[in-house]
Amino acid sequence: MKKLLLATNNAHKLEEIHQITKGRFEILSLKDVDFVGEIPETSPTIEGNAIQKAQFIHDLFNMDCFADDTGLEVEALNGEPGVYSARYAGESCSFQANIAKLLEALDRKINRKARFRTVIALIVDNQLFTFEGIVNGEISARQSGNAGFGYDPIFIPVGYKVSFAEMDAALKNKISHRGLATAKLIEFLEGLPLK
Ligand code: IMP
Repeated sequence: MKKLLLATNNAHKLEEIHQITKGRFEILSLKDVDFVGEIPETSPTIEGNAIQKAQFIHDLFNMDCFADDTGLEVEALNGEPGVYSARYAGESCSFQANIAKLLEALDRKINRKARFRTVIALIVDNQLFTFEGIVNGEISARQSGNAGFGYDPIFIPVGYKVSFAEMDAALKNKISHRGLATAKLIEFLEGLPLK
């Protein structure tokens, strides 16, 4: 089975990617390679950050690897928080602080359209490839559900009446930004010649 190192310190993401790729690829975590530390993400774009993270880990371990970067892009806020989604309410802030700030920013706004956008950067055989996944939806007025992470309790995907945080993991993974980008990654990897 093909081995890939996933360049993330986010345990939720690792778990989601494990579930999505189960049985098809062996995903190694940074713990498996004894990496402790921060991965730089200083680019002003989601694509740039995904590439920067993958390149950083690839340079350190010289292994096939991939990284993802995600942003929540809110139409009425001109695409904010976007690439700054993790630190919208400040450096090292909690998911709750981000949610509170976003609900405040959208207070009384009629347009609540938003989308999650993930870019995965893959480096395989020293070549770089990117894959994008987008899920459209809207930001609810209040939080609901306990599953998932991040902005899940206030994001209702198009075609559903419940938030990501009210869905079971299998459904979220099937329709989510990361699920869609990962499906493209898998399709690509499965098309590569076996070594
Ligand atoms: P990252 O840079 O890919 O780690 O994502 C940035 C931020 O976007 C995270 O800290 C979360 O707040 C948010 N985020 C990413 N993916 C999801 C998701 O699937 N659901 C909810 N929030 C997410």
